[in-house]
Amino acid sequence: MDTISVIAGMQWGDEGKGKIVDLLSENANYVVRFHGGNNAGHTIVVQGKKYPLHLIPSGVLQPKAKCVIANGVVVDLEVLTSEIKMFESDGIKLNNRLFISERCHLILPYHKALDIAYENARGKKKLGTTARGIGPCYADKVSYNGIRIYELKDWELFREKFIFQTKIKNKIIKSLGGTTVDIERELEKISKLRKNILIFVADTYQLLQKAILEKKKILMEGAQAIMLDVDFSPYPFSTGSNTIPGAVNTGAGIPVQKIGDILGVVKAYTSRVGGGPLPTELTDKLGEEIREKGKEFGTTTGRPRRVGWLDLEAVKFACQVSGATEIAITKIDILSGFSKIKICTGYKLNGKSIPYSSCGYQELAKLTPIYKRSLKTSFEKQAFKLVYKEFSGWTEDLTNIKKFNDLPKNCQTYLKFIENFLGIKISLISTGPKREEYIKI
Ligand code: GDP
Ligand code: IMO
Ligand code: MG
Repeated sequence: MDTISVIAGMQWGDEGKGKIVDLLSENANYVVRFHGGNNAGHTIVVQGKKYPLHLIPSGVLQPKAKCVIANGVVVDLEVLTSEIKMFESDGIKLNNRLFISERCHLILPYHKALDIAYENARGKKKLGTTARGIGPCYADKVSYNGIRIYELKDWELFREKFIFQTKIKNKIIKSLGGTTVDIERELEKISKLRKNILIFVADTYQLLQKAILEKKKILMEGAQAIMLDVDFSPYPFSTGSNTIPGAVNTGAGIPVQKIGDILGVVKAYTSRVGGGPLPTELTDKLGEEIREKGKEFGTTTGRPRRVGWLDLEAVKFACQVSGATEIAITKIDILSGFSKIKICTGYKLNGKSIPYSSCGYQELAKLTPIYKRSLKTSFEKQAFKLVYKEFSGWTEDLTNIKKFNDLPKNCQTYLKFIENFLGIKISLISTGPKREEYIKI
């Protein structure tokens, strides 16, 4: 990996980014979150213990790595405090290891109340947000109504701003039939929480610029995924931030030309939590089986994730827009035991091919996924001669395999097909949730 690498999800989130970031952080000096908030749930499993991380970067369990929450992240004080406490009670001290940008916007109680009130008002047409206040917080940021974390340093000023905003928000919340925010009670809570957090607040811009000059190894940890990017998703089935790797510039002040590798994380099949069209969704027994086997239940909300076949039309777009230079495939072990496996290689709408980039949510909901396409390369011809519309499965447990050539032949064909279709090297294959369960290529 290069000096500055970005790790980003190429689907709808929950690709296993946390596991990959933890693994690659072994030699990193800095691991940086640069967008999103605690809508993220990144799971790492080390020495039999499972850590669901929402805000602290996934390099936290690698002692050498410093963790940075950069300016593009929106911060919920309560969630961050409980995460810090979780590590401290495990003997992992974060002083001088965790740095939070002064510029981060705060997720405040009215953001969460608004998120929930809007969703309830949408009724059957709700979007399925994580209800963590993400959208309302970013909306306040761009409409100059946000409050930055450094404003907590001047309590009187913060108090004044908080009261002003809460009074306005309470009117909206009330009109939507939601639960209004109790100003004094919340102020009391925040006044206690701010003490836990302010000790970690720093000028992360300077910190990272110095790290760049010193050629330190920096891992930029993407959250959510390309299909949820506020611009490139089928809006409004989106999250509130730009999730593409270019967001390292706005979200952490890293100049784009400094980016080296971009590692796209691709789950071997599709999952999505929340609403919105999902072309390859399996709503039958097979889908249920994949969900159970893959333990596809949200890390943040516990909601069952919708699952489907791998959608390479969408992944191809994600790789293109993010400039992915390498791919990490995750959860390939979950596909063991399925006799036939499909890969979507394109979309058709009204009898014509349509690329992902031309689709809004209405097109995505109507189109037909294609599970075969014209055969171009000799490799594709060979793969399809073997499998035609479907790939033959394998039954072996992959968890302890360490070399690509030791994978079952049908699994190798499946992976080679993905690599050839995308034209991007698969450099890592994850074969289980634990840190040591992977194949490096
Ligand atoms: P993230 O949001 O992209 O970090 O992904 P999540 O942590 O939300 O969801 C991925 C889930 O799959 C977590 O429970 C991981 O522990 C687990 N996981 C990650 N990689 C693998 C893998 O290769 N195989 C299996 N079976 N589980 C994995
Ligand atoms: P990680 O980093 C999966 C989804 C929500 C919803 C939409 C908008 O763990 O991959 P939001 O609360 O952001 O306004 O919700 O985005 N979503 C995620 N889905 N993984 C995530 O993060 C997600 N973060 C948001 O389910 O559909
Ligand atoms: Mg997740």
